[in-house]
Amino acid sequence: MKGIILAGGSGSRLYPLTFVTSKQLLPVYDKPMIYYPLSVLMMAKIRDILIISTPTDLPRFKALLGDGSKFGVHLSYAKQDKPEGLAQAFVIGEKFIGKDACALILGDNIFYGSGLVAHLTHSVNRAERHNRSTIYGYYVKDPTRYGVIEIGEHDTPLNIEEKPTHPKSNYCVTGLYFYPSDVVKMAKKVKKSKRGEYEITALNNMYINAKRTHLTLLGRGYSWLDTGTPDALNDASDYVKMIEEHQGIKMMCPEEIAYINKWINKKTLIEIAKSMSKNDYGEHLMNVAKGKILYASSIINEK
Ligand code: G1P
Repeated sequence: MKGIILAGGSGSRLYPLTFVTSKQLLPVYDKPMIYYPLSVLMMAKIRDILIISTPTDLPRFKALLGDGSKFGVHLSYAKQDKPEGLAQAFVIGEKFIGKDACALILGDNIFYGSGLVAHLTHSVNRAERHNRSTIYGYYVKDPTRYGVIEIGEHDTPLNIEEKPTHPKSNYCVTGLYFYPSDVVKMAKKVKKSKRGEYEITALNNMYINAKRTHLTLLGRGYSWLDTGTPDALNDASDYVKMIEEHQGIKMMCPEEIAYINKWINKKTLIEIAKSMSKNDYGEHLMNVAKGKILYASSIINEK
């Protein structure tokens, strides 16, 4: 299973914050935004990850994340010259994906909740073994801003409408998708929409029409945060701060997930922790390395 993080776009809704930096490099409380989607792919046990961004921003992502070895993963990079829609990610990533199944996560999406790993694991199996895609649905107050799912009996997805004026439900499609190995072939069939984009919604509807899509609804136990406006970005930071302060531990640290997945050893984790020893993040990683945090019921290694 491969994974793609799409971290392109101009971030114009966040200007002037994003005049000289990528939105997905902005802080969400104590870590760069891209750490959150990276962590989700790592929780799905995906180790081969492609980061797609603009030609200007790509070097900054490389400087931050390198080849991925500090997280026990293999990172590749590709540029998207012009943002022409999310489905384009699979055409840009054709060589990287090869004959594998592939997940896509948007670089500005934050997911959190107990049970997430189990959902992710099922999604990977569904794509690899059953040739089926998975989309994640989330209840929102204002569905007109999103791709909205029309849901039939037994939570069957019937159709998705992109930013509808009259939404068929309050469930929107989040920015996390799992596809089987024919995704590149399918993505190439997507035609540009009226707003001039290769819509992920068009790709999802192809799988839905072929009855090859599973809808996973993220219920009350989950938070899905988008970070597209100054308010949303600030709220996301407040949310992470509140959870981390209440629980006393950090969330979505890729180094920690790499260690729990046994992709990096204790020595490496301690070295990383020492390089950040003067702050809470480093202290947290050191506590993980010392075994102070018990993972019997953690959201990282649950089945
Ligand atoms: C995109 C998708 C939309 C989805 C949303 C989730 O919208 O087109 O279907 O609900 O991401 O964040 P965009 O943010 O590109 O407007």
